[in-house]
Amino acid sequence: MNRKLLITYKSVTGFTKAYAEMIAQELSADCTLTDLKETTAEIMSGFDTVIFGGRMHAGTVDGLKKAKELFHQSRSRQFLVYATGAMPDNAKETVDQMWRMNLTSDELTEIPHFYMPGGLCYEKMPFLDKMMMKLFAASLKRKKNKTEYEEKSAEAISASYDISSRKYIMPLIAYLNADAGA
Ligand SMILES: Cc1cc2nc3c(=O)[nH]c(=O)nc-3n(C[C@H](O)[C@H](O)[C@H](O)COP(=O)(O)O)c2cc1C
Repeated sequence: MNRKLLITYKSVTGFTKAYAEMIAQELSADCTLTDLKETTAEIMSGFDTVIFGGRMHAGTVDGLKKAKELFHQSRSRQFLVYATGAMPDNAKETVDQMWRMNLTSDELTEIPHFYMPGGLCYEKMPFLDKMMMKLFAASLKRKKNKTEYEEKSAEAISASYDISSRKYIMPLIAYLNADAGA
């Protein structure tokens, strides 16, 4: 693959950054990693493809709006996005709903998008995030008539866990490889 790729990410506790590193390792050498904070439209213009990775934050892909704006100001030609979150891989309905909330109907077809399970890391979470999670966990615990999924989630989110795995980057890698061969 000889196109130039930029992976830019917004990561607070490290899951999204770790996935960016895994993707870079799996792809050819012509791959650069940057934190979204340090990324400009000028930087993006030096790459054929931009991959943005963001964490889920109360239903929103954190940083996606900014990444899209920079991409549109840049001369880069292709934009992909992956999101990491606390949801497991099999929460397909919730994941699909999340994408419908974060991408317009045109973007849903134009922007290849991928979900990669991360987990929760209370040790590295900023104070406000920790408070938000604790409140959410408490309200879910109190909720009556929980579905099985809610029951499991309430249990899981009360402590840190890591469900990330290299296998979750493979659909994105396969997409890029197929696209390069097309
Ligand atoms: C305040 C807060 C809200 C979150 N909201 C969601 C959410 O809506 N959906 C989800 O799947 N995960 C949610 N998460 C979990 C994070 O998306 C998950 O831990 C992510 O992998 C963190 O990425 P990072 O380590 O790169 O910061 C939330 C986490 C926090 C702290």
